[in-house]
Amino acid sequence: MPIPALLSLTLFLFAMTASTTTALAASPAEIRGRAFARTNCARCHSIDRHTPSPLAIAPPFRTLHTKYPIETLAEALAEGIDSGHPTMPMFTLEPDQINDLLSFLKSLQ
Ligand code: HEC
Repeated sequence: MPIPALLSLTLFLFAMTASTTTALAASPAEIRGRAFARTNCARCHSIDRHTPSPLAIAPPFRTLHTKYPIETLAEALAEGIDSGHPTMPMFTLEPDQINDLLSFLKSLQ
């Protein structure tokens, strides 16, 4: 029964993320950013603090700040991230979406 198993795993991960961020009082932007990342990025990138990325070559989001100051990602996101890697689709984000996503990424540091 893969679907219920997947669902409970998702709920479990969600509960874990929710409990960590509640402790730190997640801002609305951070919550929207997490939802955006879950919808658009999570099938390849790990978006929580613990799990490996579903796609092994995609860096977990919690490690991004070790490579770039999170702020410098804003520009890349606005212009369309082109990682130079064909596996990753090109994304172009609206300014609001960028703010949300960056708030979320900062929360992972
Ligand atoms: C289909 C899989 C896939 C999806 C979906 C995806 N990525 Fe990626 N992403 C990758 C891979 C693979 C890499 C590693 C590229 C490399 O090392 O060259 C990557 C790398 C990155 C990097 C680092 C780029 C660098 O130069 O090191 C950032 C930032 C990033 N992704 C952001 C995002 C964001 C934000 C989203 C959602 C809006 C997203 N990715 C969705 C596969 C994906």
